[in-house]
Amino acid sequence: MEREILRLGWRTDKETRVVSAGDLRGFCRDCGSRRVFLVADARVMSLHSQAVLRGVGDRLLGTFVMEASEKLKTPRTLQALWSELHRAGVSRNDIVLAVGGGIVLDVGAFAASTWMRGVRLVLAPTTLLAQVDACLGGKTAVNVGGVRNQAGTFYPADLVWICAEILTTLPEREYRCGCGEILKTAILSGSAELQEIAGGLPLPGRERTEWSRRAASACLAFKAGIVEADPEEKSDRILLNLGHTLGHALESATGFGLNHGEAVSLGILASSIMARRLGAPAGFTEEVLSCLCGLGLPVRLPRRITGLSRFLRRDKKARPEGTTWILPFGWGDCRPTLLSPDAEGELVAGALEEIS
Ligand SMILES: NC(=O)c1ccc[n+]([C@@H]2O[C@H](COP(=O)([O-])OP(=O)(O)OC[C@H]3O[C@@H](n4cnc5c(N)ncnc54)[C@H](O)[C@@H]3O)[C@@H](O)[C@H]2O)c1
Repeated sequence: MEREILRLGWRTDKETRVVSAGDLRGFCRDCGSRRVFLVADARVMSLHSQAVLRGVGDRLLGTFVMEASEKLKTPRTLQALWSELHRAGVSRNDIVLAVGGGIVLDVGAFAASTWMRGVRLVLAPTTLLAQVDACLGGKTAVNVGGVRNQAGTFYPADLVWICAEILTTLPEREYRCGCGEILKTAILSGSAELQEIAGGLPLPGRERTEWSRRAASACLAFKAGIVEADPEEKSDRILLNLGHTLGHALESATGFGLNHGEAVSLGILASSIMARRLGAPAGFTEEVLSCLCGLGLPVRLPRRITGLSRFLRRDKKARPEGTTWILPFGWGDCRPTLLSPDAEGELVAGALEEIS
């Protein structure tokens, strides 16, 4: 059961096809006679190597297996991967296939974008977060000096292969992390369907698999509209940063003790409190809180956080005059808001106080 759910055109001659499928078998079908270099998540390979390798077949040129850890999403890992691409003799005609969650996709895509100045890229996201968000949009990244996504490129995949069934082995905590990005998209889009999806995560089983499939289709359709119009984040794409300005700083300040999805969820809640302090209806923050509780996501900081302002200053949107925050004033009403360092300090401190 394979279905093309999206086809995006980019300003270059590139196109991204997004396919939803029941297994991994077909993900190299479009590869023709091209050879494939596999970049894969170690955990996924320990659970699904047979399916992955069967999908690649005899095209396999080489494999780079990595642990999905923010501490390894670094230039050093990228360099090790380049060395393996060299050793395997990967050429311009070959394909880099990345199989894993957002960490492995970000690193694999970065390598594909820079190897021989760009080779074909296929992504098979294996976490809910990666299926509803990270697999689409062309951002690649590594962390530098413990700061999130400091180096990266824009490089859309040629094919994204989404198999909701692979999520059955995903740990519950990781599943819930993906729900944070679903709530983000529900708020940004104001879509009734996404609001209903973000209303609660079904128990593991067939109903949850169907729910994930619907969530991925709806979230990616919304994201596609934004990134197609603004691929390099010169205008509206900035909206997709809802919850991320604070989320990234929280991840770094906790030494990655919070997962990306958990940090973004707290970032969304704190941003809704900041918006409320600037005039948004109080009832909206309550609705965000209730969704986060329903999805089993954190609504309180795990501990006292120090050193946050250092990481906020490192945000890619930070300028000397201030940082543009995306503040949610209601469903479908998110506003880019420039906050001076003083205003930001006061609003962030107030919001964090409320969720401590
Ligand atoms: N490029 C983008 O547009 C974009 C967007 C959002 C997030 N991201 C990045 O994504 C990263 C977070 O990624 P993530 O939350 O997808 O998770 P992850 O890559 O950190 O993986 C989470 C955990 O799940 C395991 N795992 C993955 N798939 C599994 C499966 N099917 N079964 C069992 N275990 C599995 C991994 O081994 C890991 O332990 C962050 O680095 C973030 O910056 C990128």
